[in-house]
Amino acid sequence: MKVHSLRYEQDIRIVEAYRKLALNLEYANVDGNIKTVMVTSSMKDEGKTTTISNIACVMSELNKKILLIDLDLRKPSIHKHFGLTNGYGLTDLLLNKSDYKNYIHNIQPGLDVLTSGRVPSNSTEVINSRAIKDLIKELAVSYDYVFFDTPPVALVSDPVNIAVYSDAVILTIAYSEVDKEIIKKSIDILKQVNANIIGTVFNKVPVNKRDKHYYYY
Ligand SMILES: Nc1ncnc2c1ncn2[C@@H]1O[C@H](COP(=O)(O)OP(=O)(O)O)[C@@H](O)[C@H]1O
Ligand SMILES: [Mg+2]
Repeated sequence: MKVHSLRYEQDIRIVEAYRKLALNLEYANVDGNIKTVMVTSSMKDEGKTTTISNIACVMSELNKKILLIDLDLRKPSIHKHFGLTNGYGLTDLLLNKSDYKNYIHNIQPGLDVLTSGRVPSNSTEVINSRAIKDLIKELAVSYDYVFFDTPPVALVSDPVNIAVYSDAVILTIAYSEVDKEIIKKSIDILKQVNANIIGTVFNKVPVNKRDKHYYYY
């Protein structure tokens, strides 16, 4: 099992944790109702980008066709995670309306990535646009899952708006870094738009506590 760009690959338990997350997503989807899956967290640096990238890798290695889209238009970083340039991407595709295949990076069999593209000043409008919703619907036809990286829910409204067109939400929590009240508030905000929170991932857990706390689903 190779998990692309996994920085903690010396720890086999981490790979195992992502594999279990991927399998749990499959179990959550036994009825086949989940196609679009977003990750968010309360604050920044809670491991959103790392988590969604690694789940995407593991899923593609389970022979699923995955498209990972960087919808963190505030601080895009999927391209950095995979060592790509962000010279073109989602926002350019939305403007140019040409063949999406010209904008997609194939990382490994079954794993395609659409970086953010140029970051617009009106990212809220882009996230809420009819055009982005139509585009995602069109792209989804060619994949088993479409994953979204997003900004922090306690800081900006984009993730709540993205939750409206996501079938499932994964929440990452930086263990002992973020206040419980802020986490509770983030969950409440997501629930107000009927977000389907299917999993919570604890990141940055001290090694001695990992067996018990690394991930919950
Ligand atoms: N499980 C983890 N354990 C320790 N460090 C982690 C873990 N997940 C992510 N990190 C590190 O934390 C930092 C922030 O991670 P990132 O995925 O970019 O967070 P976010 O997308 O929520 O801002 C990065 O330096 C990343 O390498
Ligand atoms: Mg990020």
